[in-house]
Amino acid sequence: MKPLVIEAIEQYAHDKTQAEPPQLRDLEERTHAEMQYPQMLTGRLEGRLLKLLVRLCNPRLVLEVGTFTGYSALSMAEGLSEHGKVVTCEVNPAARDVAQAAFEASPFGNRIELRFGPALDTIAAIDEPIDFSFIDADKQNYPAYYESILERTRPGGLILIDNVLWSGRVLEPADDETEAIALLNDRIAVDDRVENVLLTVRDGVQLVVKK
Ligand SMILES: C[S@@+](CC[C@H](N)C(=O)[O-])C[C@H]1O[C@@H](n2cnc3c(N)ncnc32)[C@H](O)[C@@H]1O
Repeated sequence: MKPLVIEAIEQYAHDKTQAEPPQLRDLEERTHAEMQYPQMLTGRLEGRLLKLLVRLCNPRLVLEVGTFTGYSALSMAEGLSEHGKVVTCEVNPAARDVAQAAFEASPFGNRIELRFGPALDTIAAIDEPIDFSFIDADKQNYPAYYESILERTRPGGLILIDNVLWSGRVLEPADDETEAIALLNDRIAVDDRVENVLLTVRDGVQLVVKK
């Protein structure tokens, strides 16, 4: 991932954002030591943003598409009140195993349910209104995730979508993944079912509220 903000400013924003709990720092270290593509983990800046937004929205059901090693799921679980839960989807067994171990070791892990299998199937099986979601998995499916989740989101519910600037490649899409992200950004910008702001946090985060 190419930094979009100059490195010194990204570091400053990191340093001036309150620290994540030690279990999340340990998880980040374990992810870097054991996993391929550890940079997929959201990290402090975006993780604290997720936690804060969850706390403000007080959701019952949070849906995450793309668990990886569990950093963002744990960040969101930390922001929940006692009636809330996170359902998170993953297809990679190695990532699932690290995430499950991290959930078991965390005081917030009992608020998380990991569903192993393709996210579109998991979303289709959800039969209660979604209050808050975080889309952060395979980019080609982004438009499909958005439609399926929007349909199941209650009015006023929030959808966050990660990597929507894709290291700046959305300016000149030249591959299928970038085209899918750019197509979704184009659609959201004129979608009268929602209000949105595209935040330039980290690799770009869409903040979408269902009307
Ligand atoms: C960018 S990572 C998620 C990072 C995570 N949200 C975090 O902050 O640590 C994307 C994850 O989506 C998973 N994934 C890819 N395709 C998927 C699918 N069809 N269904 C569920 N998960 C999928 C990948 O295995 C990968 O672990």
